Amino acid sequence: MAEHKMQMNGVQITWLGHATFKITTPQGKIILIDPWTKTNPVCPEELKQVDKVDLMLVSHGHFDHVADAVEIAKATKPTVVAIVELAGWLKSKGVENTVGINKGGTVDINGIKVTMTHAIHTSGTEDGSYAGDAAGFVIEFENGRKLYHAGDTCAFSDMAIIGELHRPDVALLPIGDFYTMAPKEAAIAVRMLGVKHVIPMHYGTFPILTGTPEALRESLQTLGLNEVEVIAMKPGETV
Ligand code: NI
Ligand code: MN
Repeated sequence: MAEHKMQMNGVQITWLGHATFKITTPQGKIILIDPWTKTNPVCPEELKQVDKVDLMLVSHGHFDHVADAVEIAKATKPTVVAIVELAGWLKSKGVENTVGINKGGTVDINGIKVTMTHAIHTSGTEDGSYAGDAAGFVIEFENGRKLYHAGDTCAFSDMAIIGELHRPDVALLPIGDFYTMAPKEAAIAVRMLGVKHVIPMHYGTFPILTGTPEALRESLQTLGLNEVEVIAMKPGETV
C-alpha cells in the first residue's frame, strides 16, 4: 500500500498502470476505468485478467483507454458508461449494457453517481470510428466520497467548476506530457480543482511519457500548494 493521508472510508483504489484503475466501493462493487490490461506494458501480469466488473467507465476512444473494454465487458457484463458516440461504438461491438451520457450529465448506477466532465483531448477509435469527445468522470461513491478521473487532457479553466461543483476528495490526473499535460500544468489543474490529494497517472508507460510525481511535487511547491498530497502509486498497488 502506498503511504497516504487520504480518507476515503472504505474506497479501495488499485492502479493497473497508465489510466487504468480498478476501484472497490464501500459496498463491494467493482468499478473499472479505461480498461487497458492485456497489452499494457506496466500492468502486472496477475492483474491483466479482470473477472468481476459491476461498472465500467471509458473516457475516450484511444486504444490505451478502450483496448480491453469489449472483451472484459462481454465476459463480466457490467454497466458501461461512456460518451454517447463511444457508447454506440461499444454497443456495435457487442457490449450489452451501455449508458451513453454527455458532459455535465450524471447517472446513478445502483447508488454510485457518475458525472461526465469536460476534457481537452481528441478521441476516435483505432478502426477510424468517430467516438465523440474525450471526457473525464467524477464518481460519487455510496458513502459520499468523490473521485475525479480526468481522462486524457490538458489543464482547462473550467476545472474550477468541477472543483466548485463536486469538491472531489481525490483527483487522478495525467502528468506524462506529450499526449497530455505535464507536471507543471497539472499543478495548475490541482489549484483550480482545489483538491488536497492527487494520484498521478498516464506517465512512465512508455519512455516518451516523461512526467514524474516528483516533478509534480516540485511544481506544487512552486505554487505554494505544500499541503497537497501527491500519492505516487506503483502499478498493481492499492490505496
Ligand atoms: Ni488519448
Ligand atoms: Mn491516453
